[in-house]
Amino acid sequence: MRMSELLLQIDQKKSRVVIQNGALDHIGAWVSSLDAPPVVLVCSDETVAGLYADRVLASLHGAGLVAAHLHTLPPGDGSKSLAELERIYGALGSLHLARDGLLLALGGGVVSDLTGFAAATWMRGVRYMTCPTTLESAVDACVGGKTAINHPAGKNLIGAFHHAERVVIDPDCLRTLPARDVSAGLAESVKHALIADPGFLDWHEAHRDDIRAGDPDVMAELIERNLRIKISVVESDEREHGKRAILNFGHTIGHAIEQCCAYALRHGEAIALGMLAALRLSQDEGMISAAELARVRELLESFDLPVALPANLHADAIADLTRGDKKVRGGERRWVVLDGLGHPRIVDGISDDQVRAAIGSLARAD
Ligand SMILES: NC(=O)c1ccc[n+]([C@@H]2O[C@H](COP(=O)([O-])OP(=O)(O)OC[C@H]3O[C@@H](n4cnc5c(N)ncnc54)[C@H](O)[C@@H]3O)[C@@H](O)[C@H]2O)c1
Ligand SMILES: [Zn+2]
Repeated sequence: MRMSELLLQIDQKKSRVVIQNGALDHIGAWVSSLDAPPVVLVCSDETVAGLYADRVLASLHGAGLVAAHLHTLPPGDGSKSLAELERIYGALGSLHLARDGLLLALGGGVVSDLTGFAAATWMRGVRYMTCPTTLESAVDACVGGKTAINHPAGKNLIGAFHHAERVVIDPDCLRTLPARDVSAGLAESVKHALIADPGFLDWHEAHRDDIRAGDPDVMAELIERNLRIKISVVESDEREHGKRAILNFGHTIGHAIEQCCAYALRHGEAIALGMLAALRLSQDEGMISAAELARVRELLESFDLPVALPANLHADAIADLTRGDKKVRGGERRWVVLDGLGHPRIVDGISDDQVRAAIGSLARAD
């Protein structure tokens, strides 16, 4: 059976990542390898817990971790809230989870962002581990140390850097993931290829059918290649002072689209559209050709991602919202564009008119 291990290392901080089909049944062994935490709190959403929590708890208990408990939250981004954070603190308090305890996230990016933030702040930081169960979290959210909750003023506004010590990925979990969520995760995979590895873009095209069919070996390889890219970017710039910003390719306009449609689109769906608009900006700057843009559009479409803007969204309104993006520095928006596929560049000096036109250039859904 295929198994791969990756390591993210920044100073003394290490995240060990293991990707293995069936890994959930061995979670107890992975946790015990962290000098056996006396108390473990597994945090999951109700959907994921219903599917996988019994197996995870059985493995933990089987490895002698008898004080392993489950805490669940409602599924959805609404759970990245102060109220749910407080409920986790309540559970940690009742279990007397101390500095040597462990929080284990079992779920998608919502669960890991919230659980990671609870781990970063409880007793000024306790150990944290994550088992991503969505493609989005397996290819992106599970490494890199960003944890956050939302605030009425905006998404991910309250957060901390706190790396998972272990990331255990069981690609078999993707079998129960709705197709729409698989597609959303594939948008981030295409993003990683576009910003770092043109050969990986070819790979997506060559393995398109196996990816669409969810072939377990191909999905394990896809996850591994994504995480290698993300780890190398994060290792070069953990706190996003420079290069890490390339991971935001397609995200400035993508976030504005998410906000504009009141989160009716999945994050990855909005990012697919945001990437196409950012590619259009790149084309305007003479950095990529119309044929390259068409190639990416075709790939995204073949993964059932939207390539046309929903009819009720207005380019002007989306463009206005990009001004509220976190990547604004000193009033000047910085844009990640591609100078050839696989070669990102961070630029400023792109006018509002160009942004409006790039968004306006997206096809319209009927
Ligand atoms: N920290 C980071 O670096 C980072 C990176 C990317 C995204 N994120 C965050 O991640 C969140 C989005 O994550 P997501 O797309 O994983 O969403 P999610 O965690 O909400 O999961 C999507 C849905 O899938 C369900 N689900 C999860 N795993 C399943 C499985 N194996 N089978 C069946 N159903 C399953 C969940 O219950 C949920 O309803 C956003 O809040 C985003 O801000 C964080
Ligand atoms: Zn994203």
